[in-house]
Amino acid sequence: MTRYLITGGAGFIGSCLVRKLAKKSKHICVVDNLSYSSNLSNITAALKKKNCKFKKIDISDTKKIFKLIYDYKPDIIFNLAAESHVDRSIDENYPFIKSNILGTHSILESTRLYFNNLEKKKQKLFRFIHVSTDEVYGDLKNKKSSFKESRRFDPSSPYSASKASSDHLVNAWHKTYGIPVITTNCSNNFGLYQHPEKLIPHMIISALMGKKLPIYGNGLQIRDWVYVEDHVSALVKICQKGKIGETYNIGGNNQLKNINIVKKICQYLDEYFKKSKNESFFNLISYVKDRPAHDHHYAVNIDKIKKHIGWKPSKQFDKFLNKTIKWYLDNPSWWQKTLKKNYKLRRIGLKI
Ligand code: NAD
Ligand code: DAU
Repeated sequence: MTRYLITGGAGFIGSCLVRKLAKKSKHICVVDNLSYSSNLSNITAALKKKNCKFKKIDISDTKKIFKLIYDYKPDIIFNLAAESHVDRSIDENYPFIKSNILGTHSILESTRLYFNNLEKKKQKLFRFIHVSTDEVYGDLKNKKSSFKESRRFDPSSPYSASKASSDHLVNAWHKTYGIPVITTNCSNNFGLYQHPEKLIPHMIISALMGKKLPIYGNGLQIRDWVYVEDHVSALVKICQKGKIGETYNIGGNNQLKNINIVKKICQYLDEYFKKSKNESFFNLISYVKDRPAHDHHYAVNIDKIKKHIGWKPSKQFDKFLNKTIKWYLDNPSWWQKTLKKNYKLRRIGLKI
């Protein structure tokens, strides 16, 4: 049976992948350094299964990660471990260099040693799937175009620059050492278990706490939103059908302005709590100083994944946004625990 090693599996997207594969009773080893954005309770049920185990390891610790790979003998490595929040990368960039660049280097080198010693039959099956972001392409200047996989990288933030570096390393390890890699570049994810510092949970939780809803700049920035379960099903399909050495964009074909998302959240909460106009959540919207080097617009072209992998997004943004809001309403203990234990959330007014 195929053995999966998933880095970053206690985070938002990684845990969704773990839950999906665990449901199918796959053999899984989750690796995570349990940084501030992780939450092991995201995968409690999965870890109760006999084929699913967890190792607390930092991927930049080459000795430990090599030993783990060598002992566990994965057929597939999904590399999701990364520092993932743009605002944090602006405040303090070194953790991004360490996890995203040095960490990727460390796991690639460990993979190289492991792969070189595999028998030919096993080598044929082995895949290293590197999960990256559309932010590597930078700001989309031409409104009518979209990012194709061939687009030149032009990252704007320390986060996106560190992810672009990791993508280059992955590609070079394929070209130079023949490691069978596939890279994915996905747009903005949303869904259950997302850390409270990201736009959608930040707005839901701030509203529930009666705090201001901080919109950076004019709020007209555009992101292409994809539901996290769609992203994860794309990753599984790419692992089965993707071509070695290729990169695939993943996106929702669903471009929205930030302010319109926040309005949808306010609308939902107004109806849920039966608020009058005076008490409306819309009154909490507040425009604040913009993020430095804030990319105005992202939009990925997903023709390649549609044509070659047979994947497309579900395109039901409102339904899944409502499901997400309801989940945060129903699970205050999940996000309250996160707010209590996390450092640096005071900066965004969320520390309790
Ligand atoms: P997240 O911050 O919720 O989770 C990241 C996980 O990685 C956490 O559990 C963290 O503890 C772990 N981690 C970080 N550094 C590590 C290290 N050095 N060693 C071991 N574990 C480490 O992030 P996410 O939103 O789930 O993103 C997962 C991946 O997907 C990232 O690589 C990110 O760049 C990419 N991505 C995210 C999005 C998005 O919209 N969230 C979109 C495209 C791509
Ligand atoms: O595009 C993919 C990327 O999407 C991923 O690679 C990143 O890991 C992920 O964090 C996300 O990056 P963004 O910077 O787009 O996501 P964030 O949720 O931080 O912000 C979304 C937009 O909302 C962005 O234009 C900034 C804005 N924003 C965000 C927050 C947290 C606000 O206006 N106010 C806020 O409080």
